[in-house]
Amino acid sequence: MSDSPTPLAEENAVTDERGAPAQGHPLRSAKWFAGDDVPPFIHRSALRAGGWPRSAFEGRPVVGICNSWSEAVACNMHFRGLADSVRRGVLRAGGLPLEFPTISLGEQLMKPTTMLFRNLMSMDVEESIRAYPFDSVVLLGGCDKTTPAQLMGAASADVPAIMLTGGTATPAVFNDRQIGVGNLWKYVDEVRAGRMSMAEYERLEASASPSMGHCPDMGTASTMAAIVEGLGMTLPGAAAIPAMDSRRMQIAEDVGARAVEMAREGLRPSHVLTPEAFDNAITLMLAVGGSTNAVIHLLAIARRVGVDLRLDRFHELSSRTPLVVNVRPAGQHLVEQVFHAGGIPAVLKALEPLLHVEALTVTGRPVRDGLPEKPADAPEVIATLDAPFQGPQGLAVVRGNLAPNGAVIKCSAATPELLDHRGPAVVFDNMPDLLARYDDPDLPVTADSVLVLRSAGPKGAPGMPEWGQLPIPTRLLREGVTDMVRISDARMSGTSFGTCVLHVSPESAADGPLGLVQDGDMIHLDALAGTLSVELTAAELEQRRQAVTETGAAPARGYAALYVDHVLQANDGCDLDFLVGRSEDPDSEPKALFRGWVGGW
Ligand code: FES
Repeated sequence: MSDSPTPLAEENAVTDERGAPAQGHPLRSAKWFAGDDVPPFIHRSALRAGGWPRSAFEGRPVVGICNSWSEAVACNMHFRGLADSVRRGVLRAGGLPLEFPTISLGEQLMKPTTMLFRNLMSMDVEESIRAYPFDSVVLLGGCDKTTPAQLMGAASADVPAIMLTGGTATPAVFNDRQIGVGNLWKYVDEVRAGRMSMAEYERLEASASPSMGHCPDMGTASTMAAIVEGLGMTLPGAAAIPAMDSRRMQIAEDVGARAVEMAREGLRPSHVLTPEAFDNAITLMLAVGGSTNAVIHLLAIARRVGVDLRLDRFHELSSRTPLVVNVRPAGQHLVEQVFHAGGIPAVLKALEPLLHVEALTVTGRPVRDGLPEKPADAPEVIATLDAPFQGPQGLAVVRGNLAPNGAVIKCSAATPELLDHRGPAVVFDNMPDLLARYDDPDLPVTADSVLVLRSAGPKGAPGMPEWGQLPIPTRLLREGVTDMVRISDARMSGTSFGTCVLHVSPESAADGPLGLVQDGDMIHLDALAGTLSVELTAAELEQRRQAVTETGAAPARGYAALYVDHVLQANDGCDLDFLVGRSEDPDSEPKALFRGWVGGW
């Protein structure tokens, strides 16, 4: 990266306690390795067991490579190669790379939902970083929840950290058309409507995932990758490089090298993850029509570093931020085309008047320094603020007596005519109830109905699955209905679409009013006005509340029981209450902690 010391490096220029060159931030790993008594002997010996001579680590930053590789996570299955590239960069810059595994979260195979385990993974990441002698860390994440989990853990550990996301998979081609995950949902509806044969459906299955890498549209994984760049937590340009493009390995090497510099500078997540960085990331998320899941993740990450980010900030920034990127599901292209049009730096350039360009990034330089000189020359993919693809308010936060603490709706993925809609509720108590009845020919549902699903929130499901795009009853699909207003305390896949009000808070399982709605109650959504209400008085709602006797059975043991006891609501980021905030300052960890020797000699 930079040839000259960064402003932060100069500010932190102090003597290394091991007598290394008198510049740079003291190395945390020295607490393990410096000295001649028994504990450092044991610690050094442990590294030498891995084949590293003393010269490989003495006076050198130890860089942890936090790898979420797993054969059960196709999106992250290329991370071993990526870690090798990072390793080369670390060695090139004079550091010692130590790769370590954590739990990994695969959206496709993991049940009941990866969101249940995001906080668990964040604990794994945080404690691994803190417990080992890392001077800095490279986070390798990709599939949806792996990225926020790593950011949350690294933010709480607050050891210097830089992230590299895995890049998008090679898009599938079906019937001569490049398809993303969003197309799959539409094909499923085609099958249900009888317009697509099972033979074609099987041909689709065979061709749907041609390579490793995360989903190729602007779903949650691509949104979070963009957000990592918007927050300043990766090198400029890293987010949108396709997984199978050699430029991803090239930038992985640069990320590894940069991690060594960061260790010497003492540049920590808390220096980068400022209120301004969150504003930048939210603005970017809105401009690309990003996933609503990112709202929850950003709230959680912010709380790890003590930034007072509120749900309403998303509505405020949305009211001034138009859609400037033509990418699915809000637009036409896939993320690969965004990369070829200049990637996230080009998008940030288009958004420059809305950004805090002085915000510090992991480069040690401000956002401004990572922007291209000229705007992108691909108006069909990246537009300007003056001539966007859609106007502002692509996302709205709604409140009212049905969602006192707020809910979100992705207006850019909704049917405009339904954004202000009044209709009678058709209520499903939980997912089994929905599956049992939504196609019942006697269900009193019309295109004007409002479909309601409850017991799908953080505590109720538990884990807040992506059930928010409730299926449209087949009878209506066959009549040509393509969208309806749907309301739930669930989440929705970033590749989904429809007029879906999500993350209703408090959820029904936390005594939220969603649990009190009955079939036929009139519900009024006015997304642009920011309201969601059921036409019942406070007295009527209270009367129904008094009549509620049944509460769902909570998990009896294990992580799920811990999760349900401690998970916060969606408007607070669904973190576990005892994980909010940071660990002890890594520079102040008492040296005695690292001298204790409990070996068996
Ligand atoms: Fe892993 Fe979409 S399934 S990113």
